[in-house]
Amino acid sequence: MSAIAAREGLASAGSANALELRGVSRLFGALAALSDITLSVKPGERRAVLGSNGAGKTTLFNCITGDFSPSTGIIRFFGEDVTAFPPQERIRRGLRRTYQISSLFAGLSVLDNVYLACRGVSRNRFSLLRPRRDDALIHAAEGLVDAVHLSAVKDRLVGELAYGQQRQLEIALALSGAPRFILFDEPAAGLSPTERRDLVHILTSLPGHIGYIIIEHDMDVALRVVESVTMMHNGRIFKEGRPEEIESDPEVQELYLGGAHG
Ligand SMILES: Nc1ncnc2c1ncn2[C@@H]1O[C@H](COP(=O)(O)OP(=O)(O)O)[C@@H](O)[C@H]1O
Ligand SMILES: [Mg+2]
Repeated sequence: MSAIAAREGLASAGSANALELRGVSRLFGALAALSDITLSVKPGERRAVLGSNGAGKTTLFNCITGDFSPSTGIIRFFGEDVTAFPPQERIRRGLRRTYQISSLFAGLSVLDNVYLACRGVSRNRFSLLRPRRDDALIHAAEGLVDAVHLSAVKDRLVGELAYGQQRQLEIALALSGAPRFILFDEPAAGLSPTERRDLVHILTSLPGHIGYIIIEHDMDVALRVVESVTMMHNGRIFKEGRPEEIESDPEVQELYLGGAHG
């Protein structure tokens, strides 16, 4: 077996991490938004990335999705080096991220939005030209609408939904097309206490093989939906641990929990 074949064999082995970053940095001019980030997330693992404003959390997501290229470093997704891949190639491999509200079709129903997302990632997407609806995809879309607790409003126009319901719909779109890993950037922002409890339930009820990273300022949400936490400060990782270790860590409390963050 050649060295390349051996490496590819390793890359496709089930033991590969879902996500692996090695020495990832990102400069904006003289500013190091990310410095030497090395991070591994196992398949199915759920992790929070916490840190004050400007810590580099969203830049980390942008490097993982391919929206920005890192200045240095390597990113592997399920063993495959995706560092130079455009976002679409990473999506094809099962990486998702929740986007802003603007990616929703306000004039279509909840179910139609999810149906279109399902069809967009299915092989039969050119069936757009044919009037017949794909029953299997409708069924899949209904399952996803149910998973984000929107069945009761599935025929309503998205433009008529409450803000929190639109955020839930964003999660359904991220779930379309068999994702393997999802990046959630502050999904609880702007939600009411009831909607936050609903969000916790939605995240903890996702299929076990889907791992995620959640950026979240609300500790009551973040620490209840993950098994591991990465703390960032000034573009660097300064602590990793289980939620209960992070919560009781004096250094974390001084730098983040007790300090000014927003
Ligand atoms: N596109 C950009 N151009 C210039 N500077 C940026 C850009 N995106 C982020 N930054 C800077 O990088 C640092 C990290 O930002 P960001 O990743 O958004 O932090 P966080 O999400 O943790 O609040 C900040 O100082 C921010 O101003
Ligand atoms: Mg951010």
